[in-house]
Amino acid sequence: MSRNMRAFKNILITGGAGFIGCNFIRFLLEKADGFSGRIINLDVLTYAGNSMSLADIEAHYGASRRYFFEHGDICDRAFVESIFKKYDIDTVVHFAAESHVDRSILGPEAFIKTNVMGTFTLLDVARNTWKAADGNIRQDALFHHISTDEVYGSLGDTGFFTEATPYDPRSPYSASKASSDHLAMAYSHTYGLPVTLSNCSNNYGPYQFPEKLIPLMILNMLEGKALPVYGDGKNIRDWLYVEDHNAAVWTIMQKGASGKTYNIGGENEWENIKLLNVLIDIVSKKAGIDADKIRGAITYVKDRPGHDRRYAIDCSKIKRELGWKQTVSFEEGLEHTVDWYLANPSWIENIRSGEYQHWIKRNYGER
Ligand code: NAD
Ligand code: TYD
Repeated sequence: MSRNMRAFKNILITGGAGFIGCNFIRFLLEKADGFSGRIINLDVLTYAGNSMSLADIEAHYGASRRYFFEHGDICDRAFVESIFKKYDIDTVVHFAAESHVDRSILGPEAFIKTNVMGTFTLLDVARNTWKAADGNIRQDALFHHISTDEVYGSLGDTGFFTEATPYDPRSPYSASKASSDHLAMAYSHTYGLPVTLSNCSNNYGPYQFPEKLIPLMILNMLEGKALPVYGDGKNIRDWLYVEDHNAAVWTIMQKGASGKTYNIGGENEWENIKLLNVLIDIVSKKAGIDADKIRGAITYVKDRPGHDRRYAIDCSKIKRELGWKQTVSFEEGLEHTVDWYLANPSWIENIRSGEYQHWIKRNYGER
């Protein structure tokens, strides 16, 4: 079905208080051409969820009734059903997940609950809610599932992940995301649920929780702390600015074929240690800290167990078939990101103090 037949009236965004989700909500409301509907952000606010990231959006678009926040768990079926009914949801963009590999190594259970059971719950509620009187599922609805390139496993020195690369997840995080991808595609094939799926490479940009490489390193540089590099520092990731990811998701929602997967990537591979050196130069210049002093804080630490060596995405399909392309260079994206962390000390302070987790209780009460 061609996407211009889709309604996009009431979009349920799960995990909209997290890094990519909150940037996507901003993108949809402020930059996406042709969207004038409502956004319902459903988020349970784990340590990674921060509704303060959207306080200005809530004030502005909440008042005009285009943005709604719902505090709850995607694993809670009754709650998810009530949200579909209350807002007449016709579109789901599913970001909510436990997303950090190191945490999945320390405690995999939450990853299985949210990433596998939570995705199952959303898919199943969508299937039931979007069933028409004749038993068929309405095809003007859409479930877009957000996933990662990590489901494909680890590359050697050469080669790229394509949409045809067999799944080979190697961490509890990537295994849980792989399970959720299979469920999403199974719901498309078995029940005819209109599903699109994207597997994206490492994102970076504003509002990223400082446990991931780039924000962790920026904050440690600003605070004069050690810069922990896992193993030999030569693991490779393909980096994409978060807004380019969001534009790709919006492109797939509009033009992607139901039942299809699209790889999204930066075509921008960096060894961790080389990336760190570029970041040091940018932080040094912008924050006025001596670069050699920052460099002296690089500390090689014990490697992450099962650390995937290299990720690299072949994203020629989305470019060729849907006309998407990256627009932000790595240098430019890193500069924006460092500027953002420098300009938002209160966001950082709120995370450090845990204040962001009390905000919800004051504003919405307990569920
Ligand atoms: P994040 O950890 O910053 O945010 C996740 C959000 O989901 C948080 O707001 C959290 O409160 C919410 N959440 C977690 N469990 C929930 C539950 N049970 N019910 C409702 N809400 C819940 O993650 P992110 O980096 O923004 O990633 C978003 C999505 O993108 C994930 O699905 C992730 O796998 C995928 N992804 C991330 C990257 C990346 O580089 N960050 C790359 C590719 C794909
Ligand atoms: P991360 O941001 O955790 O993303 P992912 O594991 O999902 O790719 O890590 C990116 C790379 O940086 C990965 O190779 C692990 C490495 N890394 C460090 O060397 N030190 C750190 O403190 C962190 C958080 C990551």
